Amino acid sequence: MKICSTVEELEAALNPFRINKRLIGFVPTMGALHHGHLSLITKAKQENDLVVCSIFVNPTQFNNAADLEKYPRTLGEDERMLKEVECDVLFVPSVDEIYLNGNYSVLNVDFGVLDKGMEGKSRPGHFAGMITVVNKLFMIVKPNSAYFGKKDFQQLALVKYFVQTQHIPVSIRECPIVREADGLAMSSRNRLLSPEERKHALLISKTLFRVKEMRGKKTVSEIKSYVESAFANDGLLKLDYFEIVNAETLVSMEKLEGNAATIVACIAAFAGNVRLIDNETI
Ligand code: PAF
Repeated sequence: MKICSTVEELEAALNPFRINKRLIGFVPTMGALHHGHLSLITKAKQENDLVVCSIFVNPTQFNNAADLEKYPRTLGEDERMLKEVECDVLFVPSVDEIYLNGNYSVLNVDFGVLDKGMEGKSRPGHFAGMITVVNKLFMIVKPNSAYFGKKDFQQLALVKYFVQTQHIPVSIRECPIVREADGLAMSSRNRLLSPEERKHALLISKTLFRVKEMRGKKTVSEIKSYVESAFANDGLLKLDYFEIVNAETLVSMEKLEGNAATIVACIAAFAGNVRLIDNETI
């Protein structure tokens, strides 16, 4: 695996592939890799001639300085995992390489209603920072396809909207959530959980699976009451939001109409200081 830390090094590594019109797949990450990330690399390997993974903890998408500070950084372990799945190129730029001359300005994209609820509401500025870095990375890597996990469901919807409306020639490939054996969605933040928090965090996926079973039997407001009391009774977890949304528009649903693929239940919750998100189509 070739490791590049500057745009110049990356250009030198990728140019021969570009000239020969070989397909480049791209997996942007913030590191602290887990099997969810590796599933993206594996899919990218299947669909491209060359796979680039980036590891960059993007400061502009953190709306909370403490969260940025404690975000897990495990580069040595990440490199080992990437070699195992035969990632071809790892791009690990510094903050100065991405935000040249200390220019931290972010894109001001009109996402319509897509960014008004859920993460957009709970984490002001998060999506502006996220789309800024995704755009910069797309400009630098110039991939044919880029791979995103469905755990960050709203992020994925915004990235799809962005490339479509800005005519960015990158095909966005979405990949399923990868779960631990007990159901917890894999996340870089899981490694920040204490053993006690880890046990309680299971309530998030359990609740989503239960909500799925309630479809067709309970109303939206009954389901919401169920979820709120499940979290209130937990004692450790704090529910940030529970939403049932249309998968395309991300608008909250009052009635559960439509087929399963079009309705998504989403949860964000705090286990101590660790904020976790998860979702399921219901
Ligand atoms: O999902 C992530 O890890 C990040 O938001 C991304 C897409 C790498 C941008 O920093």
